[in-house]
Amino acid sequence: MRNIVLIGFMGTGKTTVGKILAKELGLKLVDVDEEIESETGMTICDIFKEHGELSFRDKETQMAKKISNGAGLVISTGGGIVLREENIACLRQNGLIVCLMAAPETILERTKDNTDRPLLKVENPFEKIKELLNQRDEKYRNADITIETDGKSPMVIADEIIEHWKSVH
Ligand code: S3P
Repeated sequence: MRNIVLIGFMGTGKTTVGKILAKELGLKLVDVDEEIESETGMTICDIFKEHGELSFRDKETQMAKKISNGAGLVISTGGGIVLREENIACLRQNGLIVCLMAAPETILERTKDNTDRPLLKVENPFEKIKELLNQRDEKYRNADITIETDGKSPMVIADEIIEHWKSVH
């Protein structure tokens, strides 16, 4: 069975929606960032701080490739997975790529109390969110399905994905 791969910016609800999807469809949820943290024994923040972003991106690519070999999974990715085309190419081989989108205001609201996102630990997170969204927008929209999440509950978003999923299976 094909995997469902959730991509999208930080704070678009990939993890929350992924949990609902896995439960509703009886699939296993695998989170790329969590796998990296358990394999390295380090938090994402510490990997960025001690080894730098490039080292994190290399680990992310390795992990994406490893997880892509599995089947019947809901795969939740980090927001930067789209930065390397090879990541999406391998995840797409056996997966439906679903992108969750949200407005920068929504993303700020959903991420503002969270301190474990190194890229948003800056003086003006709102500007940073807009800048990164601009840089990545085209890459996110290259997904098989794009879902706007503003004003929707995680359950409604999950239901939309399940409808698409059933129509292709
Ligand atoms: C990142 C998103 C994070 C995490 C890392 C980098 C990004 O994951 O992978 O901090 O570049 O957008 P979430 O999207 O789950 O927050």
